Amino acid sequence: MAQLYPEWANKAPRSILLGLILTILAVILGFWYYGSPKHLEVGYAPVQPIDYSHKLHAGILGIDCQYCHTSVTVSAVASVPSTQTCMNCHSQIQLDSEKLEPLRESWETGKSIEWVHIHRLPDYTYFNHSAHVNVGIGCASCHGRVDRMEVVMQVEPLSMGWCLDCHNNPEPHIRPVQEITNMAWAPDENQFEFARMVIEKKNLNPPIYCNACHR
Ligand code: HEC
Ligand code: HEC
Ligand code: HEC
Ligand code: HEC
Ligand code: HEC
Repeated sequence: MAQLYPEWANKAPRSILLGLILTILAVILGFWYYGSPKHLEVGYAPVQPIDYSHKLHAGILGIDCQYCHTSVTVSAVASVPSTQTCMNCHSQIQLDSEKLEPLRESWETGKSIEWVHIHRLPDYTYFNHSAHVNVGIGCASCHGRVDRMEVVMQVEPLSMGWCLDCHNNPEPHIRPVQEITNMAWAPDENQFEFARMVIEKKNLNPPIYCNACHR
């Protein structure tokens, strides 16, 4: 068959389609970037079934985060402690405390306490705690000074922009792995060199391609 149109014309529909897809993507991303309120859920601090205080337990009593959030270094989720974990101490202390009535009830009935979730990413995102804490990103970088919170409050937006800010520029946040739960840790003047050394040694490469977080 004779060629009626020049070569480029045959390719036109495909490149128009591709252009359209890219435009739609750009519009979505544009909406996301400029439209999303930066502080969507910052400040969220729901009332919990027990008046449990991190300030008392993690701050004043100095119980390590991992005593209760046991799975944080080995799995995607940090896990919230079972009644058993609390009873390790509260089967012996504060036995008459009214505030602990729901805990004793849970212990007797075997019905677990329904703690209210605070930090929650949308289902279409993937996040893994162990991948972060095991390379030296501390709890405080993402959750703030939990040891000073009477009631846990979300202090970071957990938005895509927030994830990418650190992925593009992780140096200020990398600490020695043994300090991940140390709330008082602060970078010193050698932070940048220290972080570069860790990044090179462990070959860290925080992903910015889409399907790292959208699988
Ligand atoms: C004695 C047990 C215990 C210790 C120690 C502890 N936590 Fe918790 N944590 C809990 C319980 C129970 C909850 C659920 C109730 C609440 O939010 O207060 C919780 C909730 C949280 C949440 C919110 C979870 C959500 O739903 O989004 C974060 C973040 C958190 N803890 C971080 C920490 C950090 C960081 C430390 C160390 C500084 C720590 N915790 C120490 C028991 C503990
Ligand atoms: C790089 C950021 C980051 C670091 C570091 C981090 N978290 Fe989280 N944490 C999150 C995000 C994001 C969520 C919400 C996860 C979701 O919805 O899938 C979350 C959720 C939680 C929860 C609720 C239960 C769960 O797993 O969804 C607890 C408890 C918690 N984190 C505790 C901790 C503790 C303790 C540490 C330090 C040992 C820590 N986190 C370190 C970002 C982080
Ligand atoms: C390592 C021991 C230990 C663990 C584990 C522990 N606690 Fe406590 N808790 C204490 C101590 C000690 C006090 C009392 C502090 C004081 O003297 O005021 C206390 C006090 C409390 C109080 C205040 C009681 C009142 O009437 O003032 C509540 C509520 C409480 N704990 C809840 C919990 C919950 C819920 C858990 C599990 C998530 C838990 N605790 C795990 C040691 C522990
Ligand atoms: C404070 C810094 C920091 C923040 C905030 C952060 N990350 Fe990361 N993330 C890192 C670093 C550093 C690595 C590199 C780990 C490596 O190369 O082993 C990483 C690696 C990852 C990986 C690849 C490892 C894996 O689990 O497959 C994913 C996915 C990821 N991050 C998702 C997220 C998401 C989603 C968020 C926001 C909710 C987020 N991160 C927020 C520092 C951060
Ligand atoms: C480091 C992790 C990470 C990477 C890489 C990433 N995203 Fe996201 N993305 C997120 C998180 C977390 C959210 C949820 C934000 C929220 O709830 O505000 C999100 C939300 C979105 C949304 C929904 C926006 C909205 O407001 O509902 C779109 C669309 C999106 N991402 C597209 C992309 C595209 C396209 C890429 C690649 C260029 C990409 N993402 C790369 C973490 C990531």
